[in-house]
Amino acid sequence: MSIHLQRITVRFEYPVYFTRDAFDAGNTDLVDALAWREPTRRHRALVVIDGGVASAWPSLSRDVVRYFDAHSGRLQLAAEPLVLDGGEAVKNDPAVANALQNRLHDVALDRHSFVVVIGGGAILDMAGYVAATVHRGIRVVRMPTSVLAQADSGVGVKNGINAFGKKNFVGTFAPPFAVVNDGRFLETLSRRDKIGGIAEAVKVALIRDAAFFGWLSEHAELLAACDADELQALVRRTAELHLAHIATAGDPFELGSARPLDFGHWAAHKLESLTKNRLRHGEAVAIGVALDTIYSAAAGLCDRGTAESVLGVLHRVGLRPWDEALTWTAPDGRFLVLDGLNEFREHLGGDLTITLLREVGKALEVHEMREDLVRHAIEQLRRHESASIGPR
Ligand SMILES: NC(=O)c1ccc[n+]([C@@H]2O[C@H](COP(=O)([O-])OP(=O)(O)OC[C@H]3O[C@@H](n4cnc5c(N)ncnc54)[C@H](O)[C@@H]3O)[C@@H](O)[C@H]2O)c1
Ligand SMILES: [Zn+2]
Repeated sequence: MSIHLQRITVRFEYPVYFTRDAFDAGNTDLVDALAWREPTRRHRALVVIDGGVASAWPSLSRDVVRYFDAHSGRLQLAAEPLVLDGGEAVKNDPAVANALQNRLHDVALDRHSFVVVIGGGAILDMAGYVAATVHRGIRVVRMPTSVLAQADSGVGVKNGINAFGKKNFVGTFAPPFAVVNDGRFLETLSRRDKIGGIAEAVKVALIRDAAFFGWLSEHAELLAACDADELQALVRRTAELHLAHIATAGDPFELGSARPLDFGHWAAHKLESLTKNRLRHGEAVAIGVALDTIYSAAAGLCDRGTAESVLGVLHRVGLRPWDEALTWTAPDGRFLVLDGLNEFREHLGGDLTITLLREVGKALEVHEMREDLVRHAIEQLRRHESASIGPR
């Protein structure tokens, strides 16, 4: 018998542009994003647009066509831009992904062509999954349009759709070809979604960057007022922290069991499913982060002052660290949200590994969570909610 150990190393690189007015003919960032590997070729692309973005920017499809015309020596549209509904529904209904596969087949995109996706995190995840599996991987240029997507999901390496009531049950790890973050898009995002995206900034600041948490605290009121410059600064720093983690933490495709960027997410994902997406991802993350922070204090891992300041910042930026779904129970009295722990373990594989808080800027990992302390943390959040209803 003999064994051959096969070793393959693949290097991934993708530029992330921070720009404004990407479809102005004079702005060449998108051309560069498509052409950076092969500058002399003419590149063919299908552009997919989030319906929410298309409604907010009625001339967008025309602007895209005009942009491709203005750069016709280097770019070519495979078809008219395709507008699909946005929001979590595109991840919940497999027919949407199937229809997009059909479309890629119809326009005969090959593996050197591009899908350019303009939209929120949900459509980026869905279209990214479709593109990653058609021909085993078509190139994707992401143009995230929400705070959450520009700061987190759009610059990362994952995609996916939901199935069997579970978030991201079907999906792949597939780094994008390039990312173009156009700050102008954020102008039309609803206040609800602007604030929701801030939750991922609080999350990554807590586990990685105490100074950034301090900045979030100092700027909380301006952020709550959706000040454009403040949100832009938040997006930039949050994206940098996510990018740095993916590049340097040693496990970009999450082959191990630890997943620090998913701090607060075991509960968040469960709350999204339990509420049938009444809670948006960012809103659920704010609750999950609050829950795991209070748990950390209750378990003696961080001090109570830390937990207080986390709740304070969430509250001041306009996030509500509470939802009734936290208290929904199974017939045997068990809190349904606790099922999120097992689902999280299953999604990661291996041992349950939950990221908790040691202090602001420093995380630690545990391999079990005590049910009584989770209940205690939920009770604390309920009290905090009752106490804060007055001044709201
Ligand atoms: N792949 C990852 O690593 C990763 C990481 C974090 C979150 N996510 C996923 O991202 C999704 C959440 O993304 P989201 O917060 O962007 O929500 P979303 O994509 O659901 O968008 C929210 C709403 O805003 C609209 N919208 C988006 N941009 C707009 C704009 N500029 N103007 C007007 N309307 C606009 C959309 O049409 C939608 O109705 C979740 O599915 C979550 O699981 C993925
Ligand atoms: Zn998230």
